[in-house]
Amino acid sequence: MAQERFLNPPMPDVLAQWKFYFEQLNVQPDDVVLDVGCNTGDTEHFLINMYPFVKKVIGLDADIKRIQAAIETWKLRGKQGNIEFLVGDGMALPFPDHYFDKVICAETLEWMKDPKAAIAEIKRVLKPNGIALIQHTDWDQTVYTTSDVQASWLYKSRSSSIHAYK
Ligand SMILES: C[S@@+](CC[C@H](N)C(=O)[O-])C[C@H]1O[C@@H](n2cnc3c(N)ncnc32)[C@H](O)[C@@H]1O
Repeated sequence: MAQERFLNPPMPDVLAQWKFYFEQLNVQPDDVVLDVGCNTGDTEHFLINMYPFVKKVIGLDADIKRIQAAIETWKLRGKQGNIEFLVGDGMALPFPDHYFDKVICAETLEWMKDPKAAIAEIKRVLKPNGIALIQHTDWDQTVYTTSDVQASWLYKSRSSSIHAYK
């Protein structure tokens, strides 16, 4: 969830945006979900809070330090059994074909050397009727409408790149 490391707690509009994204996944009780580029694991906790019945959410990231931080937070939050973290490369996923019901890849493709390989891997590990959520924010066009005072610095720092179109 982009911006979770900028502000704590995250801005309400960003949370609403993520709620909307997850609703598009149509999460079902037996779903096994993969999050490619999970960073420190906030997305996994947000998803499990929304859908506690989910069978498994695996957060994968190429950066071992981020995965270590994710595991520390997971322990502090009570070690939910349906969350797992793993070091791995989104361009060569360590899973068999058709393994996941849903795949999330948020704000991550743009960091990869070969995003097409990552998309092919996401397709490979998805079940035939699976759903992938691939999300990227166009930061230059982003406008926050939050009334959160904490967020005002972010709004101000971005105001030079906000354009009005008529
Ligand atoms: C901007 S963060 C996005 C984190 C989170 N998904 C979000 O929406 O906020 C990008 C993440 O992608 C990870 N990453 C970059 N290249 C990767 C790769 N080839 N495989 C897996 N993760 C990768 C980085 O370590 C980083 O945690």
